[in-house]
Amino acid sequence: MLIISKDKNSLNESQVTDENIYQQRRKVIKGLGFAGASSLLAATGVPLNAIAKNSQQKFKTTPLTFSQSNAAKVSDKLTPEHKVISHNNFYEFGSKKEQPAENSQAFKVDPWQLKVSGHVDKPFTLDYQQLFSLFTLEERIYRLRCVEAWSMVIPWLGFRLADLIKKAQPNSKAKYVKFKTLHDPKQMPGQANRYMGGGINYPYVEGLRLDEAMNDLTLLSVGLYGKTLPPQNGAPIRLVTPWKYGFKSIKSIVEIELVSSQPKTTWNKLAANEYGFYANVNPEVDHPRWSQASERRITSGGLFARNRIETQMFNGYGDEVAHLYKGMNLEKNF
Ligand code: MTE
Repeated sequence: MLIISKDKNSLNESQVTDENIYQQRRKVIKGLGFAGASSLLAATGVPLNAIAKNSQQKFKTTPLTFSQSNAAKVSDKLTPEHKVISHNNFYEFGSKKEQPAENSQAFKVDPWQLKVSGHVDKPFTLDYQQLFSLFTLEERIYRLRCVEAWSMVIPWLGFRLADLIKKAQPNSKAKYVKFKTLHDPKQMPGQANRYMGGGINYPYVEGLRLDEAMNDLTLLSVGLYGKTLPPQNGAPIRLVTPWKYGFKSIKSIVEIELVSSQPKTTWNKLAANEYGFYANVNPEVDHPRWSQASERRITSGGLFARNRIETQMFNGYGDEVAHLYKGMNLEKNF
């Protein structure tokens, strides 16, 4: 991105590693079966997974019930949870990798309002509880490839964006989908301080073409590793588009608007020559300042486990999405 911060990965291996707990809980939840509408379970003394060094109060995540999904299942090893929630890009809480976890633990997600509007016949607004209860939650294990050339493998929980869009009944003028993050400088120090927030004009905005938004892979995520999202990963609801660079996966969404022309998106406005609207993972089109041919996969263990691997076209999801870009020049439409 524009401000390149070194991966300090400040956690050491003796700190929280709750993958085993997660795996055990998965077995229990599977045994219970899918609980339908009441997807939020009561907190059951599960260890908190937020690892903020400086925060006074740690954000409390809550176990969720969900069904398993076979959609685009990957065999890659999961990135350990403590790395997923401590190495983040969320400039509203600071542009260094460790800052979102440090600065977001007091973030208020309930009450929340997600407005769905624009060229639709049935606009609506969801409250916090409805984010978890209106649609069937499923687990999707996806690769996340950041434009900065690191990657993770994350078990997300969520529902298809297509299901939400269908509920709003888009009309023929709807061609694109525009997403907006909460704008609340009192809670988000990066919005209050231009230097801390990486020089971005907030709110953070992202967009997809309507057919990309309706693709089966496109997820609205409300959780990871079996629980609600911690703030640093975009609580209470964020987008996940696994074939695109991570900056498309906008966090803490308050507005989804169906629009007729291509929305102006945050990173594209900041540096159009570096960050395209499409942002499809493509090892053959380099970022002007670095190669996109390979990536550093963040896994468990120390230095030697941090593998450099070859980046795959569409991040390995070509079977599901290549048809969306048939006949397009992907060097031009990067
Ligand atoms: N959404 C908002 N609102 N603000 C951000 O700074 N960063 C993006 C994306 N979504 C960002 C955001 C970038 S650059 C990446 S790589 C992913 O979030 C990182 O998601 P993660 O921290 O859950 O790994």
